[in-house]
Amino acid sequence: MIEDQRHRFSIPEDVHYLNCAYMGPLAQEVSAAMVEGARLKEEPWNFRPTDFFSVVETFRERAGRLSGVSPDNVAVVPSVSYALAVAARNVQVSAGQTIVTLGDQFPSNVYIWQEKARASGGTVVSVERPSQSCWSEAVLDAIGPDTAVVAVPHNHWADGRMVDLVAVGEKARSVGAALVLDLTQSLGAMPLDFEAVKPDFAVAACYKWLLGPYGIAMLYVDSKHHEGEPIEHNWINRAGSEDFARLVDYRSDFQPGARRFDMGEKSNPPLLMGAGAAMEMLMEFGIAALSEELGRRTEALANEAQALGLASAPIGTRAPHFLSLAFPEGVPKGLTERLAEKKVHVSLRGISLRVTPHLYNTPADSEALLQTLADCLA
Ligand SMILES: Cc1ncc(COP(=O)(O)O)c(C=O)c1O
Repeated sequence: MIEDQRHRFSIPEDVHYLNCAYMGPLAQEVSAAMVEGARLKEEPWNFRPTDFFSVVETFRERAGRLSGVSPDNVAVVPSVSYALAVAARNVQVSAGQTIVTLGDQFPSNVYIWQEKARASGGTVVSVERPSQSCWSEAVLDAIGPDTAVVAVPHNHWADGRMVDLVAVGEKARSVGAALVLDLTQSLGAMPLDFEAVKPDFAVAACYKWLLGPYGIAMLYVDSKHHEGEPIEHNWINRAGSEDFARLVDYRSDFQPGARRFDMGEKSNPPLLMGAGAAMEMLMEFGIAALSEELGRRTEALANEAQALGLASAPIGTRAPHFLSLAFPEGVPKGLTERLAEKKVHVSLRGISLRVTPHLYNTPADSEALLQTLADCLA
């Protein structure tokens, strides 16, 4: 078991924040790292040319360690949509081919593929899942000889149901399709074996389960794409950019590995140091142990909610950190107001309540949610 870590956060006792899938709160040590980063710019005369690189490399190393991949395979990007634009630029889709997505997938992982399909004469296929199961079977069924890209998450952002990425990766490879992953709702909260899954590209925004700041994300790029085309051409990603005296000796070669895909103005200490500090905090516990702990917590909530008549999928079908409670008879009247009154923060999605706790939650948070549900259902 992992102890509650509430003392490391600034969440008032009477606030019951069970909505990490919406936005992870910053721990005090993460804010402190961001302030330390901001302070560096109070004295630009002390910010050396080498610092432009070292702050980025420290982040890249931490992101690689957290994900179990080499830092050389990590690019620093501002958002999921940016990362997926990089992916779309570097995968082939021909006329008549398909791009496989989940039904009601998060828009940042849909719009870019609609654009790609429009430009290439392909189509986006949005798979539907059979009502009570996970997404794996539907995705596997949709992959065939005409599939060019499979663009999916590890678990659905609304219902938490999983995709078996090892099986999907294997099938995608067998038909020559690229695998592009949006791990924003899973990386940091659930382990992923990159070596077994072998994605072409995989992105995670830092501001949810990675408990970091907004405006920064990590992009995994498989080595076979390291000669690929970036979507922007900034000075610092070119080879030799360490020598500030020779920046106008323009060069066509790049910094090694995935670095060519880094965003412009990447050397931003508040974001990099904040996101990195949050990753260190998660690694203190280990992602596998953290996932088990969050699974224990959501499972306990699911059992109590079941006694109130609320249905949810078992762990395995759903991701351990992601609970979606369905009201079989519809959402009770006044629920939203009651939750607000009791300062219980969750997300209402259709007829389900998305409950996503983390280590900053205490038993009092679960009790407040369950009591509010019991009152509304009485
Ligand atoms: C699955 C998923 N992907 C991506 C994002 C954010 O996308 P972007 O970084 O393009 O704003 C979210 C935000 O809710 C999300 O849930």
